[in-house]
Amino acid sequence: MRRLLVTGGAGFIGSNFVHYLVEQTDVHVTVLDKMTYAASREALAGLPPERVELVVGDICDAALVDELVGGLSGEGDALVHYAAESHNDNSLNDPSPFVQTNIVGTFTLLEAVRRHGVRMHHVSTDEVYGDLELDDPERFTEATAYAPSSPYSASKAGADHLVRAWVRSFGVAATLSNCSNNYGPWQHVEKFIPRQITNLLSGGRVKLYGSGQNVRDWIHADDHSSAVWTILEKGRIGQTYLIGADGEKSNLEVVRLILEAMGHAPDDFDHVNDRPGHDLRYAIDSTKLRTELGWRPAYGSFEEGLERTIEWYRTHQDWWAPKKAAVEAAYAAQGQ
Ligand code: NAD
Ligand code: TYD
Repeated sequence: MRRLLVTGGAGFIGSNFVHYLVEQTDVHVTVLDKMTYAASREALAGLPPERVELVVGDICDAALVDELVGGLSGEGDALVHYAAESHNDNSLNDPSPFVQTNIVGTFTLLEAVRRHGVRMHHVSTDEVYGDLELDDPERFTEATAYAPSSPYSASKAGADHLVRAWVRSFGVAATLSNCSNNYGPWQHVEKFIPRQITNLLSGGRVKLYGSGQNVRDWIHADDHSSAVWTILEKGRIGQTYLIGADGEKSNLEVVRLILEAMGHAPDDFDHVNDRPGHDLRYAIDSTKLRTELGWRPAYGSFEEGLERTIEWYRTHQDWWAPKKAAVEAAYAAQGQ
């Protein structure tokens, strides 16, 4: 049976990818995850043990990584690298784990795939390209120059550069993808959309940074999963593919959609302190992925995916409620 090693497979997007693999393919999955605050065992609970195995460990642990990557020897086997410190606001408070996991961790994986001749797919973000003006007619493409703004995006950019260098200098068989903002089940309540939904579900108020004019390009995590699988199956080695679903919305628009869907008045939110260095707009042109590899998102609209996500948080209070108070206390301490 074909085997995939999925780093960060107990986090938000990684766990959605593992579910996708179990439902849509017949591969065997080994998840390597450090089980940081962002991970959850519940996200993998109930998956068939003969298909999915969890190894708790750090991608910076060279001996463990070598052993796991060394076990990938069959045709079609691959390492799919999701593990990261992923939250911009946390990177502003303490950049150190971002540099360690995102850069040193990626280096550790690259050295292992180099030694063992294993295929790798590196999952990255559109935030490596910096931000766009609101009226910029061009969106990000694979040719856009790197210009990261935050410790998070800089550490992801550093990781991307390492992957590209290992492809060129050592012939490592890697592909890369840079995706726009994800939403969906199992996203930590520190992030924008789940924070607002769970604020309302727990009797709190919606919190909008600054004026809310900032634009993000939303994609459902399932569509991200199908894109990564498409790249694994059909992508050209050494290539980068941008993943996006034409889902641009200002934060104010998103807040209003959440309030409306949950039966609140459109102005029932608080403006709170803005994020330092806050990127204005992200937008993805995914023409290459669509024309070269034939990928299409399955979700017809952001509104459809949002409704389903709100419903998911309604029915998974047991999962998110224990995390909520500490997250809100930390935000409140910085006026957010
Ligand atoms: P997440 O924070 O929800 O999950 C990250 C996972 O990585 C967690 O399970 C955590 O325990 C694990 N991890 C962290 N450090 C580790 C280490 N040293 N060793 C092993 N495991 C470790 O993040 P996410 O939102 O699911 O993002 C996953 C990937 O997708 C990241 O690489 C991120 O940069 C990228 N990405 C995210 C978005 C988004 O909107 N969230 C968009 C584009 C790309
Ligand atoms: P976030 O989910 O942190 O993703 P990213 O920083 O990777 O884009 O934030 C998405 C947007 O929402 C970003 O512009 C910051 C904003 N935001 C708020 O307005 N309020 C909030 O409570 C949070 C967490 C984010």
